[in-house]
Amino acid sequence: MNAAALLLEIKGLRAGYGEVDVLHGIDLEIRDGEFVCIIGANTAGKSTILRAISRLVPRASGTLRFAGADLSTRASHEVPALGIAHVPEGRHVFPDMSVEDNLMLGAFTARSASDLPERMQRIFELFPRLRERRSQLAGTLSGGEQQMVAVGRALMLNPKLLLLDEPSHGLAPKVVEEMHDAFVKIHSGGTSILLVEQNVGLALDVATRGYVLETGRITLQGSSAELSQNPAVRAAYLGI
Ligand SMILES: Nc1ncnc2c1ncn2[C@@H]1O[C@H](COP(=O)(O)OP(=O)(O)OP(=O)(O)O)[C@@H](O)[C@H]1O
Ligand SMILES: [Mg+2]
Repeated sequence: MNAAALLLEIKGLRAGYGEVDVLHGIDLEIRDGEFVCIIGANTAGKSTILRAISRLVPRASGTLRFAGADLSTRASHEVPALGIAHVPEGRHVFPDMSVEDNLMLGAFTARSASDLPERMQRIFELFPRLRERRSQLAGTLSGGEQQMVAVGRALMLNPKLLLLDEPSHGLAPKVVEEMHDAFVKIHSGGTSILLVEQNVGLALDVATRGYVLETGRITLQGSSAELSQNPAVRAAYLGI
């Protein structure tokens, strides 16, 4: 089997806030077309890894490469145009704008605008509820629907890599399931995904490979099947 090309390559990454390092030498890679998850407890540094990729936290040392290019020389505002879309923790929609206008904002850095109507149609196929509510103000949507808007807005970029930070946090189980079905579809459409989740069972269900992060260090990695059979993962994260 020919391995797909490396899309994201992180080596020895140290990063944090101010003088304090939160990540103590992270090695992580994603091949083109992979669906990878990062699992770990509160404050392990999961969001910080995604923020480092998006250049929202400075790198203290190590290398960050995306599609062959050095990410560490790029500013955060240049990252979307490279093909990386980040859905941060929490549901950041513009409450006083319609669903449709929120989605259009996601496309503001898109290089070609000609296929934006098609992109929006694909998002409505993925999340039919958003089509029904396209003119509704985003602030009046349910939490799950707002998360769909946040994911849809990221997809308007047509990204190569989608970074998802705890997208199912605080949502009802049925909505979580809908959300995860959508991720599987996005992935099968060819988009690579890096998913951060505290719900380890769910993450290992949808991703094909994963990393376990503990206080800023990767302690385990493997296929989702391997990780879900691992006794340490089962005891610490799956409660088995
Ligand atoms: N803006 C910030 N300034 C200073 N310290 C921060 C900042 N954001 C996060 N930290 C610290 O960095 C560490 C890792 O935070 P991070 O948000 O990456 O964890 P996480 O694994 O995503 O946690 P959670 O599961 O709660 O989202 C924590 O100790 C946190 O207090
Ligand atoms: Mg987090």
